This record gives sequence, C-alpha cells and structure tokens, in this order.
Amino acid sequence: MTQKKLSFIDEVKRRRTFAIISHPDAGKTTLTEKFLLYGGAIRSAGSVKSRRSSKHAVSDWMEIEKQRGISVTSSVLQFEYNNFCINILDTPGHQDFSEDTYRTLMAADSAVMVIDSSKGVEDQTKKLFHVCKMRGIPIFTFINKLDRAGKDPFELLEDIEKVLGIRSYPMNWPIGEGKNFKGVFNRHKKQIEAFGGGNHGQSIAKAVRGDIYDEKFSDLLGSDLHEQIKSEMELLDIAGDDFNLEEILQGNLTPVFFGSALTNFGVEPFLESFLDITMPPKPRESNLGEIDPKSDNFSGFIFKIQANMNSAHRDRIAFLRICSGKFEKGMVVNHVQKNKKIRLAQPQQFLAQDRVIVDNAYPGDIIGIHDPGIFNIGDTLSENQSDLKYQGIPQFAPEHFAKVYTKNALKRKQFLKGITQLSEEGAIQVYRKPNIGVGELIIGVVGVLQFEVLEYRLKNEYGVDLVMERLPYRYIRWVEMDNFDSSTFSITMDTMIVENEEKDPVLLFQNEWSIKTVEERNKGVILREVSLLR
Ligand code: G4P
Repeated sequence: MTQKKLSFIDEVKRRRTFAIISHPDAGKTTLTEKFLLYGGAIRSAGSVKSRRSSKHAVSDWMEIEKQRGISVTSSVLQFEYNNFCINILDTPGHQDFSEDTYRTLMAADSAVMVIDSSKGVEDQTKKLFHVCKMRGIPIFTFINKLDRAGKDPFELLEDIEKVLGIRSYPMNWPIGEGKNFKGVFNRHKKQIEAFGGGNHGQSIAKAVRGDIYDEKFSDLLGSDLHEQIKSEMELLDIAGDDFNLEEILQGNLTPVFFGSALTNFGVEPFLESFLDITMPPKPRESNLGEIDPKSDNFSGFIFKIQANMNSAHRDRIAFLRICSGKFEKGMVVNHVQKNKKIRLAQPQQFLAQDRVIVDNAYPGDIIGIHDPGIFNIGDTLSENQSDLKYQGIPQFAPEHFAKVYTKNALKRKQFLKGITQLSEEGAIQVYRKPNIGVGELIIGVVGVLQFEVLEYRLKNEYGVDLVMERLPYRYIRWVEMDNFDSSTFSITMDTMIVENEEKDPVLLFQNEWSIKTVEERNKGVILREVSLLR
C-alpha cells in the first residue's frame, strides 16, 4: 500500500499524546482496546483482555500485576485513527504508584480520566486526578459502563465538581441507561447518535445520526426516551457551564463523555471530539527557553526506565518523549547530562501490541531506547544543542521507610545491583546511615506496595532474599544549610539523619512536631519537602 508522504510539519500536527487514568476496574484497559479497534490496529476486541493471562500482555510486565490484578508500571501504545497518530500512555491505577503516574504525565499532553458510572469518583481517581492537576494539562472525562444501571448523569457531574473541584462540560448526554442505553446526544454537533446492534462490543458499533427533532428517533428510541432527551437538553443548556476551549486547554474545565467501552457505544463520538479539541504537541520549557516542536533540532527527555520487561532478554529500556525535531534511526545525539555523544541504533516503538524497530519518529511520539545503564530519569537528549535541558522531574517525598539487607551475605553484589536498578527506575529511593552495617540500606517509597515490588523483583530478577525491617518514619526533608555538620546539628530523639546517593543530608521524621523543633533549633536551616529536580 502506498501512502502519501507527509511533511515534517504535518506529522507533528497529527500527533496526539495522552495518558489514561482511572481507579482499578473502571474500564481503562477495555477502553484502550476499543481505541485500538476503532483505529484498525486490532481486528476484533477481546485480545487485550485475553492476553492478560498470557506472558505477552502489553501492560502486564510483571507477574505481580497479574497476581494482584493491578497495573504496576505504565505502558505506551501508538495507533492511527482518522489520519491522527495517537500515543496512549497507560498509567498504574493504584495510588501506591502515583509517582510513576506523575512521570508518565510529564510525557503526556493531555489525560483521559475513566469513571465507572455506578461508582462515581473513587479514591484512586481522586488521587490520580490531583497528580494530573499538578501538571496543568487538559483532562477529559469518560464516564463508562452506561450499559449497566448507574448513578444519575446529573449526580455524576456534581460528584466530579464537588469531589475533584473541577468544572465540567458534558460533550454528550446519555439516552437511556442499562439495557435501555440507546445512544448519546452530541451537544457539539447538536445531533442524536443512536447506536444499533453491536455484537457485544467485538466490532465497531454502528450509529444512526440526525437532528434531535427528527421524528425517526421517536421510533428508534421510543417516544418517551425521545421526549426525555429533548427536555434534558433544554435543562442542560440553561443550567450548565458554557463550552470554553481556553478553560479546557488550561485544565480548568473537563469535557465529559458518556459511553460503554464494553459495547463500544460512545467510543467513537468520544474519539472524534477528543481529537478535535486536543492540540498537537506544544512548545516545552527548557533551560534555553521554550523549545518549539517544529524546530529542526531533534530533542527529548527520558521519563521512564524499565528493566527486565522481557525476562528472556534481560533488557533495559529507557522511554524517551520526543519534544522537537525528527528522529531518524541511527542518529547521533548529545546525552546532555552525561556530556557525551551516543548513537540511537535500535530504537523501538510500541505499536498496538507489538514492539517494532522504528525508522522515524516525531514530536509527541515515545520511543524506547536500549539502555546499557547510561540513562537516568529526566535526562535530555539533543541533536545539536548540547546544553539543552528540559525541566526536571521532581522526586516525590517517600512516606514509608525500611531498613533492608540480604539474607545471604554472598549475594551482596546482586543485592546492590538490584537496588541500584530499582532506584534508577525511580521505584525506590535509597538512603544510607553512616553508622549502620555496610550491607544495610534505608529504602524510602511513596506507596507501601512498592516494598512488595522491591522484594518480588529482587527475588525473581536477582535471586536475592531480602530482609526488611520497617522503620517508623513518615516524613522526609531534604536539608539545605551552609556548612552542615551532623555532629553539631541538633535533632530530636526520634529523628534520623541519613544521606542520599549524592551524599546530601536528609532527615527522616516521625511527626510534624519534630520537623518544627529541628527548624527552630538550627538557625538558617531550610527543610525542603520536595527534592531538587533531577
Ligand atoms: P481497568 O483497566 O480500569 O482496571 O478495567 P478493565 O478494562 O480491566 O475492566 C474492568 C471490568 O469492567 C472488566 O470486567 C470489564 O469487562 C468491565 N467493563 C469495562 N468496561 C465496561 C463497560 O462499559 N460496561 C460493563 N458492563 N463492564 C465493563 P471483569 O469481569 O473484571 O473482566 P472480564 O471477565 O469481563 O474480562
């Protein structure tokens, strides 16, 4: 098949890169699969789900994910729809991995939040939403499972506004619900989109579209439903917020869509409007000012490192978000932080469910680069400007701490290798106390489940049995002070002084009272809640 060659600018313009967030079970995987179905990347639905139990599942890189039924790490997928080239970033639904979600959101230009219509806004949605809000990107809401009895749509909107504190604008409105879910009213196009047939969502749902007053809908929907939607729409027009693109793009107003990922109803209207409203990659902040995606200089940053994705190959992949210029296979670029040139020889892209070697890629795209241990999260790669650095990725403050060592002293080398690996991936933070045993480390994590991941991965990937002693600390502060001296620095009995890998002093506290006391006792000290950007 011959395809018209697009210019570089056209390639940038058709890119859309978004992350998808939800409370576990709201339907994120199902919706992603339906996007692939509508994009023609898969022929029939069901393959993603059925792959869940197989070794090749896209986002189930780890056994632990399958065991617990949660997604621990994020994955990336690319597909085409209506000439758009779409990159989806999947995020872990569990709050314990919100740090990973945040890093993934650094690579996204917008986010889609999936909500279960029978549950409304759930705890994890709330936490992930706040992570999104910190990034200030547009957030789109897909209220899912309309094929089942759920909450009243007005109640769901109120829930979003009250619990999440964001105003909402329904882009479409459900016609009926549960077994009686017949379609949606598209407010933008001012038309009814009535869904017909459908084979349990395996293939694309057909829709009959037309003006709300068209009498054919009295037959198709039933006259009661037809009357109901007409009066609900009048109510919504009077009572609701106005559509405001500027507010949406600034993340202050969320466009809301109703649908059912399972039956495919509402998936296409969502995709169409979403692609219409969202923007191609925007200029990004850097130390050299804003970098235009359309500039000639190829550049991007590493937002995620994932080791041992394929246990047969023991590979380590660094995920790079392209911010400007065109990527070409084999090109030589500056690794800015390491101040050296590297060749990007075998970069991979994640198309639908396969990994392929990529020849060219454009701003908005994510490529996976083989990492022989030279990349850190936040590193910038740049073709021409060797001093270009993108905004760093902040380190979240860990809230759980443990002392760890290996049961078997002979495995100390593997133990350290595994710990370094997980620390470089950003899954754990490593601290040392000058006077504890050489083989002991203090590990800090944002969510307790990360301890399980640590234990599991050290055992499975490095053959190390960990001994872990939980510590009572709950707060971390990075110390900023001229001439810091641990022997004269005054702390409370229940506070511990440790060092990070750069040997900077860090304090672990059990309560807020101690933080205040230490601040009062040491003149000129600044205790930072967030670590300096990497
Ligand atoms: P997640 O990635 O957000 O965790 O959710 P996932 O897509 O795995 O969906 C969770 C469950 O919700 C699945 O059921 C899925 O089939 C169901 N589901 C997703 N979308 C819809 C929808 O629009 N309507 C209805 N009724 N159900 C939906 P399961 O029983 O856990 O798995 P399975 O046995 O169906 O595969």
